[in-house]
Amino acid sequence: MSDATFVHEFAGKVAIVTGGGAGLGYAIARAFARAGARAVIAGRTQETLARATAAIEKEYGAPALAVAADVAEPRDCERMVAAAVDRFGAVDILVNNAATFAVRPLIDAEAADAARFFAVNTIGPLNGARAFAKWAIEHGRRGAIVNVSSIAAGRPVPGLALYSASKAALESLTRSMAVEWAGKGLRVNAVAPGHVKTEGVLEDFRAGRLDEAAMLARIPDGRIDDGHDVADAVLFLCGDRARHIVGHVLTVDGGEGF
Ligand SMILES: NC(=O)c1ccc[n+]([C@@H]2O[C@H](COP(=O)([O-])OP(=O)(O)OC[C@H]3O[C@@H](n4cnc5c(N)ncnc54)[C@H](OP(=O)(O)O)[C@@H]3O)[C@@H](O)[C@H]2O)c1
Repeated sequence: MSDATFVHEFAGKVAIVTGGGAGLGYAIARAFARAGARAVIAGRTQETLARATAAIEKEYGAPALAVAADVAEPRDCERMVAAAVDRFGAVDILVNNAATFAVRPLIDAEAADAARFFAVNTIGPLNGARAFAKWAIEHGRRGAIVNVSSIAAGRPVPGLALYSASKAALESLTRSMAVEWAGKGLRVNAVAPGHVKTEGVLEDFRAGRLDEAAMLARIPDGRIDDGHDVADAVLFLCGDRARHIVGHVLTVDGGEGF
């Protein structure tokens, strides 16, 4: 599809992307800015956020806002929504993208490790979604929420149990949010990416921790997403063309999950 198809699709909209300063979140925030939205990016590291907003403003000439927030903290998420409303007057879209990832064999998985995975990857999106939903419902605004899951949610991989379980719970939460809020004007869906070639993954290729050729061999489509494929799926789910799609988890993995 040509660039022109997407230009201005989100003009006048305000989109919050958690973890939008780097990796997939940055690709999603850029895609919204390219489509005319004002992007609000949240994360814990101020310098990363400042760099990302400056780059988005330079590239698209649209204002972007950085908000320092830890999604595991409900008050930070309320502050994130309030800051977006304060700067841009409203919030239309929330993408719960921020997550923590680590290899943790179950034999080493202490309760505190498990709690952190769920606090960031499952309760974090709940914190963000509740803050947005409370504001939107109170103000009679329609909106869209997309939670970023992973194909790991549905398949066991040694070492990824806590990550997988936190994402499986997020998918369940997505369906519950969807049925509780659809009648109030909020559409909630999720995307489940396969592999995404973020800076972290590229570093793992360079260091030999991940084998790019082996990864490619598992993907029938024959390439690894650089973030654009998932970003397009997120924009689709947030846009009017997905107006009757509610509580869906859209897999974007080049066929790897089959
Ligand atoms: N990369 C992949 O291959 C892949 C595959 C499937 C699914 N995913 C999913 O896609 C999403 C993005 O992944 P990614 O690879 O782009 O991750 P990433 O490069 O590690 O970026 C994660 C972002 O989230 C932020 N973040 C982490 N913890 C946070 C917290 N507690 N509060 C607020 N922000 C936080 C980080 O910024 P700070 O550290 O500054 O807070 C960072 O900007 C995640 O949900 C991940 O599970 C990724």
